[in-house]
Amino acid sequence: MSLLSLLFFLSIAHLSTAGTIFTAPAQVTESYDFIVVGAGTAGCVIANRLSEDSSIKVLVIEAGISDNGTESSLISTPLLAGTGIGTIYDWNYTTTAQPGLNGRALGYPRGFVMGGSTSINGMIYSRGSSEEYDRMARVSGDSGWSWDSLQKYIYKNERHTPPWNNRSNVGEFDPHVHGYGSLLTGLTPTVFEHDLRVIQTTSEHPDMYPFNLDVNSGDGLGFGWLHATVGHGARSTSSSAYLHPALNSRSNIDLLLHSQVTKLVETTPKTFNSVQVAQALTAPKYEFTASKEVILSAGAIGTPQILMLSGIGPANHLASVGVPFIIDLPDVGNNLQDQVILTLQYEVNGTTLSPFLNDDAAVGAALAQWAENRTGIAAGNTVVNTIGYLRLPFKSPLLSMGDPAAGPNSAHYQIAFLGTFYPNQGQTVPATGNWMSISIVVQSPTSRGEVKLTSSSAFTHPSIDPAYFTTAFDIGTAIEAIRAAHKFITTSAWDGFIIRPYADAANLTTDAQVEAYIRKFSSTLNHPTSTAKISKDTEEGGVVGPDLIVKGANRVRVVDASILPAAVAGFPQAEVYIIAERAADLVKETWGLT
Ligand SMILES: Cc1cc2nc3c(=O)[nH]c(=O)nc-3n(C[C@H](O)[C@H](O)[C@H](O)COP(=O)(O)OP(=O)(O)OC[C@H]3O[C@@H](n4cnc5c(N)ncnc54)[C@H](O)[C@@H]3O)c2cc1C
Ligand SMILES: *[C@@H]1O[C@H](CO)[C@@H](O)[C@H](O)[C@H]1NC(C)=O
Ligand SMILES: *[C@@H]1O[C@H](CO)[C@@H](O)[C@H](O)[C@H]1NC(C)=O
Ligand SMILES: *[C@@H]1O[C@H](CO)[C@@H](O)[C@H](O)[C@H]1NC(C)=O
Ligand SMILES: *[C@@H]1O[C@H](CO)[C@@H](O)[C@H](O)[C@H]1NC(C)=O
Ligand SMILES: *[C@@H]1O[C@H](CO)[C@@H](O)[C@H](O)[C@H]1NC(C)=O
Ligand SMILES: *[C@@H]1O[C@H](CO)[C@@H](O)[C@H](O)[C@H]1NC(C)=O
Repeated sequence: MSLLSLLFFLSIAHLSTAGTIFTAPAQVTESYDFIVVGAGTAGCVIANRLSEDSSIKVLVIEAGISDNGTESSLISTPLLAGTGIGTIYDWNYTTTAQPGLNGRALGYPRGFVMGGSTSINGMIYSRGSSEEYDRMARVSGDSGWSWDSLQKYIYKNERHTPPWNNRSNVGEFDPHVHGYGSLLTGLTPTVFEHDLRVIQTTSEHPDMYPFNLDVNSGDGLGFGWLHATVGHGARSTSSSAYLHPALNSRSNIDLLLHSQVTKLVETTPKTFNSVQVAQALTAPKYEFTASKEVILSAGAIGTPQILMLSGIGPANHLASVGVPFIIDLPDVGNNLQDQVILTLQYEVNGTTLSPFLNDDAAVGAALAQWAENRTGIAAGNTVVNTIGYLRLPFKSPLLSMGDPAAGPNSAHYQIAFLGTFYPNQGQTVPATGNWMSISIVVQSPTSRGEVKLTSSSAFTHPSIDPAYFTTAFDIGTAIEAIRAAHKFITTSAWDGFIIRPYADAANLTTDAQVEAYIRKFSSTLNHPTSTAKISKDTEEGGVVGPDLIVKGANRVRVVDASILPAAVAGFPQAEVYIIAERAADLVKETWGLT
């Protein structure tokens, strides 16, 4: 063999062990066993796990763009978390005007990129309480969804890593509850004075404010340190952890970018193992068929939109937008739940991130250092390091209508601590001073919203109505949370630290004042769930059964945040990763894969 032909042979050999990235549907000519719709959080997990079996072939179809382009530092730089919102990486949805928020409509970000929302999210990795998973087992009638049964998938998902500066994390987490997966998580490289005061409060008042060694342990209450999806100084996403490694090493997985699934196609009655794809409203349409099944992982907005466009959803609603109806499933797009965030800001007597964030030259230098060697202040999740998950008082009248939490060990609300001025909508960050913010989140809202089609075109945004603060429980719990935050920082650990609240939050005394503050300033935490929720096979309500197959349909499953029975009393990405890990095994079982 000549050197040239050897080189040629080696390059072919190399090609044959990697998947192909297509950028237009016309490039796709092979046939596939599985089609995964959406290269997001859940979709990348499914695609990776299914392609472990070399006897089958997987095509992933993603509407959005690559995560390796020139602006990818917006994704991978931990300090820049949040800045992907409103960029080329965002779908740029907007909610309907929200009566509960004084008529405001909110921007509603969703990842439009490999990795989906994990490429633009706030990176917090917090699994929620074990009771969340046990509730999913209960409502689906499948004990396989319980916390105990899911342990192997929890360990498969994630791995704790030290921060870039090797700061010791001893006493800040429990190594036993972390796994060996490829998604990297870690604690902050930099601890601030306010973080230490949070922990000091737990040691001075352990009964009222218990320390939780690891909020990822399934113990859903108390105060502790927050893991973020950061490892080796960079953001870890479902794309970096699951999709790129599979594409780089396997020839049986391909990815089609810039291509939107416009609907599922019925191949034989009620069987939907085929998808229609287009790059724009007026562009040619293509059809791809999976010889085995289609997995819908388009997220809590995209999935119900695709189902409805396919004729699967509330019959009356489909008729109203002119979509031919095939399966009447009234809960598609219903039960939308989202969590809101608002902050209280305080000027403090101590070092925070504020002076750094207000100093463009310092931020520029930090970004330059990060680009050089993934070190420095930009290489860590430094903004929010400590959190408390709390419940309403046992005798709270708010609970007289029933308790929406997953169980007695699950939070009704959280208060988290940020080492900077975190502005609410319409507020301007002060140019000077050291600031701390306390964020308030109602974890178990009882308000229920909806996602609806506004047209029969896949290229028109659906209407998104989270119906924020439309129940007395939600507003009452937010008021309680603000009062709890006020009380927390009056303990002795905070003496001499808090100088004053920011002007907007200065007069939060009466319930009416607090409620006005909540309605004026609350914004989305970007946690929509439950728009295609799981239920028992025998139940009329719900959209998917315990095996995640769409009710009344064949060969199409939903795997993403839309199947969750309710909002998560933690942060949703961890739960989505975990259910996706198990879902991949359910698909493998169906088709006898390894
Ligand atoms: C700004 C922001 C901050 C957040 N912060 C946190 C946080 O700190 N911690 C946390 O746990 N959670 C956070 N979340 C929520 C969390 O990221 C999501 O709950 C989770 O990632 C959802 O996963 P998914 O698989 O359901 O959907 P996604 O990850 O959104 O994936 C859906 C994918 O499908 C693609 N898609 C959609 N429609 C189509 C179509 N028709 N055809 C082809 N492809 C399609 C999308 O482009 C996307 O890639 C945040 C979310 C956002 C947006
Ligand atoms: C980056 O993405 C483009 C598609 O947008 C693809 O052609 C290229 O192969 C990718 N490169 C790597 C290293 O992943
Ligand atoms: C979202 O808005 C930004 C800023 O206008 C734009 O660059 C981007 O292309 C938009 N995203 C989509 C999917 O159109
Ligand atoms: C952290 O530890 C790793 C592994 O021991 C080492 O390679 C690295 O240089 C250390 N980094 C710092 C900043 O000390
Ligand atoms: C700030 O704290 C120091 C002690 O650390 C104290 O001397 C000083 O008076 C405090 N300043 C304010 C404004 O409270
Ligand atoms: C990383 O680069 C910065 C300069 O940009 C340098 O000061 C620092 O020592 C480097 N760190 C390591 C661990 O190489
Ligand atoms: C708070 O109350 C004080 C005293 O009544 C008043 O001077 C101030 O303007 C109020 N601030 C806000 C933001 O309402």
